[in-house]
Amino acid sequence: MESATPWRSGRFDAGRGPRKVLFGRMYEDPQIEARAFAGQARVFCIASAGCTAMKLATQHEVVAVDINPVQLAYAARRLAGEPAIHGTAERVMGFGRAVAPLLGWSRARMQTFLDLDEPSLQIAYWREHLDTRRFRAAFDGLLSVSALRAIYASPFLAFLPRHLGAVMRARMERCFALHANQTNPYARALFLGEMDREPPPAEVGRISLVNADAVAYLEAQPTGSFGGFTLSNILDGADAEFAQRLFAAVKRAAAPGAVVVLRSFGEAGADAATNQAAQDRSMLWGVVDVRPVSSRPGEQ
Ligand SMILES: C[S@@+](CC[C@H](N)C(=O)[O-])C[C@H]1O[C@@H](n2cnc3c(N)ncnc32)[C@H](O)[C@@H]1O
Repeated sequence: MESATPWRSGRFDAGRGPRKVLFGRMYEDPQIEARAFAGQARVFCIASAGCTAMKLATQHEVVAVDINPVQLAYAARRLAGEPAIHGTAERVMGFGRAVAPLLGWSRARMQTFLDLDEPSLQIAYWREHLDTRRFRAAFDGLLSVSALRAIYASPFLAFLPRHLGAVMRARMERCFALHANQTNPYARALFLGEMDREPPPAEVGRISLVNADAVAYLEAQPTGSFGGFTLSNILDGADAEFAQRLFAAVKRAAAPGAVVVLRSFGEAGADAATNQAAQDRSMLWGVVDVRPVSSRPGEQ
C-alpha cells in the first residue's frame, strides 16, 4: 500500500518531469548518529547523497534506503568513489550565494568568519559584519513563501515555520554561538558551497543500498532487525497516516534498546527534551529528535 509523501516524485516542484538528484551532499551532522548509535550492530538510514551511510559504515552494518531511484544511483556512484555533483538543493543555494556580494558579503569577509574558532568572536563578527539590515531583508525575502513557491510544491511548504527567514537566521546564530566555524564543514558548505570531498571509508562494503519507500521496506523486515534508525526529514511534507505507519514499522523492526533519529525543518514542539537540533553543526534544523524507539508514542 502506498501512503502520501511528496518525496515519491523525486522533484521539489509539482511538475511531472523526470526524477532528479536533489541533494549532491547531505546537510545532516552524523556526529549525532555516532553518539546515538554507539554499540549497535546494524542500523537503518535514508541514503540521500550517501554521506551519513558512509560515516555510519565505519562503526555499523548499514542499510541505506531511498525512494528516489535517481538519488540512490547517485549515492551508489559516490560509494564507488565518484566525486560529489551539484543537485537541485545546491543549485538553489548557489543562487542565494550569487547575490551575497551585493549584500556586502565579500568572499574575504566570509573566509575571515569561517576561519574563526571561538564562538564569542564568531557572534561578534556575525553581528558586526554579516547580519546586516541589508542581509536580513534580502534573506527573509528569499525565504518568503511567495519566493519559495517558485521552486517547491505546496506539501514541502505547508510545515515550514512562519517567518522562515528570521527562524533560519536564529538557527544560524545558535550554531555560531556553540560550534567553531573553523572545523565546521557545514558552515563552509552553506557559505562557500563547498562539496563533500571525503573519500568513501574502507568499510564501504558494509552498506547495502535499497530503492524503496522507508515505510514499505521496514514493514517487510523481520522484527528486531535494527539497533538504530536515522530517518532524515522524510516526514516533512508527508501526511499523518504516513507518519503513523512509519513509527509502527520502526517499532516492529527495532532491536531491544534501539534509538531513532528524526529531523525536521519545522519548529520544535513540546518534546524539547529529546531535541538535539543545537548540536547538529549543519545549523538548519528545528528538530533533531533522538530517543529510544520504545519511548516513541504510537501503535506497536
Ligand atoms: C528527506 S530528503 C532531505 C535531505 C537531507 N536532509 C539531506 O541533508 O540530505 C533525503 C532523501 O530522502 C529521500 N526520501 C524521502 N522520503 C522517503 C521515503 N519515504 N523513503 C525513502 N526515502 C525517502 C529523498 O528521496 C531524498 O533523497
